[in-house]
Amino acid sequence: ERRDALEISLGRMRLKNPVMLASGTCGYGRELRDWFDLSSLGAIVVKGTTLAPRAGNPPPRLVETAAGLLNSVGLQNPGIQHFIELELPELVEAGATVVVNVAGDTEEEYVEITRRLASLPAGTVAGVELNVSCPNVEKGGLQFGTQPQDVFDLTRRVVAVAAHLEVWVKLSPNAPDIVAVARAAEAGGASAVSLVNTFRGLAIDLDARRPVFARTFGGLSGPAIKPLALRMVWEVTRRVGIPVIGVGGILTAEDALEFLLCGARAVQIGTAQFRDPEASVRVIEGIEAWLSARGIRKIGEWIGSLRVKGEQLYPQADA
Ligand code: SIN
Repeated sequence: ERRDALEISLGRMRLKNPVMLASGTCGYGRELRDWFDLSSLGAIVVKGTTLAPRAGNPPPRLVETAAGLLNSVGLQNPGIQHFIELELPELVEAGATVVVNVAGDTEEEYVEITRRLASLPAGTVAGVELNVSCPNVEKGGLQFGTQPQDVFDLTRRVVAVAAHLEVWVKLSPNAPDIVAVARAAEAGGASAVSLVNTFRGLAIDLDARRPVFARTFGGLSGPAIKPLALRMVWEVTRRVGIPVIGVGGILTAEDALEFLLCGARAVQIGTAQFRDPEASVRVIEGIEAWLSARGIRKIGEWIGSLRVKGEQLYPQADA
């Protein structure tokens, strides 16, 4: 009965709980399988995957900050065919609910990857999360994610070939108007939006008088961004009809509960896993205990029930 308390629906998906692993922080789940049962999660969103393998950016790729992590990985991944043949079967075997974060240089690449995933037997992959928010590559990524029209076009084309797959769009906090981008994803047929990806940041090597990363900027994640992500989730949930998945600096069950209270139907845990590989399990258990201690029998009673005085809307919305 306690397990049912955390069940949520997300588009056509029914998840046993609202806690997922965020793309790029769990690879394809291999390392984590020794730590916990992947089927205990709401879902696992695997690393941004492209059509062909990609080598990613030269090192260094990670810099720890006072309260977060900067990365410049550059979408290193083994390509979609490798994923389908060598990684996916083990995830299915582990009973995981799998969502594939899809990245590409061109719209065609996103479409082709989705088409291949949609041709797999139903139940192997639950959905795709379109990465229009990677700040660390020349083409693709953020190139698609800042302009609402681009996001609308891409989403519509992917949805047209997605068949039974859910289509989520992962939004960038670096877009000038994230609400407008979220609305464009919704208009394009997305079944959910996830936000936020990393904030573009800069790390400096003082002795060398250079930026640490070869591509100058990196993406900031971790507790440093949590209040910013929470604010954006709040703004977007008020302005779109599709579910919002909250991501950004969640370390604890209380952090996750804040996102859910602001209206996120689910959350993703990312950077926290580098500190504690079992962070997601602790968050699930913590949410369960927290709700049960307060007599809240269904998580749906909690989601979006933030008490606010008046309407505090995003200033640019409807402008
Ligand atoms: C990366 O691979 O550079 C990070 C991916 C992302 O932020 O979307």
